[in-house]
Amino acid sequence: MPILCHSNEIAERKSKGFQLGEKFLFAVKKNSRIYVYENLCPHLGIQLEWQPDEFLDIDASMIQCSSHGALFNIENGECLFGPCVGQSLIAVDFTINDGQIDITD
Ligand code: FES
Repeated sequence: MPILCHSNEIAERKSKGFQLGEKFLFAVKKNSRIYVYENLCPHLGIQLEWQPDEFLDIDASMIQCSSHGALFNIENGECLFGPCVGQSLIAVDFTINDGQIDITD
C-alpha cells in the first residue's frame, strides 16, 4: 500500500499535495484528524490548489478551489459554495499505521 507521509508532516489546519502514479491526491489535517481526497475539482476536473500544498481558504476552515472559488467541507468533501454546489470531492480510503498515512484505495 502506498504511504503518503507521516501524519506529523501535516500541521494542524494545513494541507499537502501528493502524486501517486497517475493520481493526484491531497491530505488535510483538522482537529488532529487526517482527510484525504483526490485532487480533482468536480466543477471542471482540474487540480484545486493555488500554490503547492495550499488547498485551504484564507482562514483554513474549508477546502478551496483556486480556479472559481468553490468551497468544500473538510470533513466530507461536499461543495457548499461555488459552481459545483452539492457535488463532492472524491474521498480516498486510508489507514494510519504508526503515524504513517497508508492509502488503501
Ligand atoms: S474548477 Fe474548481 S471551481 Fe471551477
